[in-house]
Amino acid sequence: MSYKVLVTRILPGRALEILEKECDHLEVNREERPMTKEEIMKGIKEMDGILCLLTDRIDSEVMDSAPKLKIIANYAVGYDNIDVKAATERGIMVTNTPGVLTETTADLTWALIMAIARRIVEADRFTREGKFKGWSPTLFLGQDVYGKTIGIIGLGRIGFAVARRALGFDMRILYYDLSRVDERLEKAVKAQFVPLDELLSQSDYITIHVPLTQETRHLIGEREFGLMKPTAYLINAARGPIVDEAALYKALKERRIAGAALDVYEREPEIYPGLTELDNVVLVPHIGSASVETRSKMAEMAVNNLLAGLKGQVPPNLVNPEVLARG
Ligand code: NAP
Ligand code: GLV
Ligand code: GLV
Repeated sequence: MSYKVLVTRILPGRALEILEKECDHLEVNREERPMTKEEIMKGIKEMDGILCLLTDRIDSEVMDSAPKLKIIANYAVGYDNIDVKAATERGIMVTNTPGVLTETTADLTWALIMAIARRIVEADRFTREGKFKGWSPTLFLGQDVYGKTIGIIGLGRIGFAVARRALGFDMRILYYDLSRVDERLEKAVKAQFVPLDELLSQSDYITIHVPLTQETRHLIGEREFGLMKPTAYLINAARGPIVDEAALYKALKERRIAGAALDVYEREPEIYPGLTELDNVVLVPHIGSASVETRSKMAEMAVNNLLAGLKGQVPPNLVNPEVLARG
């Protein structure tokens, strides 16, 4: 069989070599920038499959420019960049990369918690600037993590991996989700299911691990910041638009909350005006899954999904199984 595939960016690891062997025609964007929508629409025209990134918006217009398209393989677990409903209506499979990035993203979340609580970034900057003049009883006092209360919004794969880390820090673990998770999972990390408002008002560290959907867009806004303790920290390594960034900026600026640590932004790669001027926020550039091992595994997974779909098999990580019923 001959397959025609578009890959919207160079991927780490050996996955592209595998694709090269299997595909009759492989087009790869080799530039160090995302493709524009126009470039994707042009590039995808004759393609059977696309391997795309979370920065590529794959909407109905893009799909309609590719009459032969069978499968959209996303190089991410989150797939809010793809109009899944439109794909299903057109008989196009959509896949993602769950699981392989869970621990890596939970590690990054933990790094953000530690960094904001113990003022690591500020302290690093201070030291580099030659300002360290000796130990001091009051130099960079932060907040303890050990023994505090963590509120996990979304106890899914990553949320649960964060809970396991919190257990090691002897934290009280509260969580909010669409519904209670399996009782055995709850027990394993001693997590208590609470309404969102209660989680917000009781937690010292609030960390977001829900997908971006219509329901979770601006889940955290002005009202929610009003419920948080003035000593609370917000961590977001899920998706930027889950937090109303204007309200977050205000809460940080007015010290309504103690701080925030962010991996994701509402209008990536734009950073909300003024946010970089605040010292009670840690900012990293969407690197949740960014380890050598994990990014290679994600590439392999995306390629396996893509090839399975092209070969007429059910891809291991199909997010719209309804599409199969269409035949
Ligand atoms: P997951 O296993 O599906 O976990 C998401 C959890 O959120 C599930 O328990 C889900 O419940 C729950 N949920 C969904 N909608 C909700 C709502 N409206 N209110 C409350 N809870 C809701 O996904 P995951 O693998 O942990 O990944 C979570 C998200 O992290 C991804 O969608 C992605 O956007 C983000 N992510 C970011 C990075 C990064 O680089 N920063 C890396 C990886 C992932 P149900 O299972 O009942 O739907
Ligand atoms: C990264 O943000 C992902 O969703 O995999
Ligand atoms: C600090 O370095 C201490 O010894 O307490």
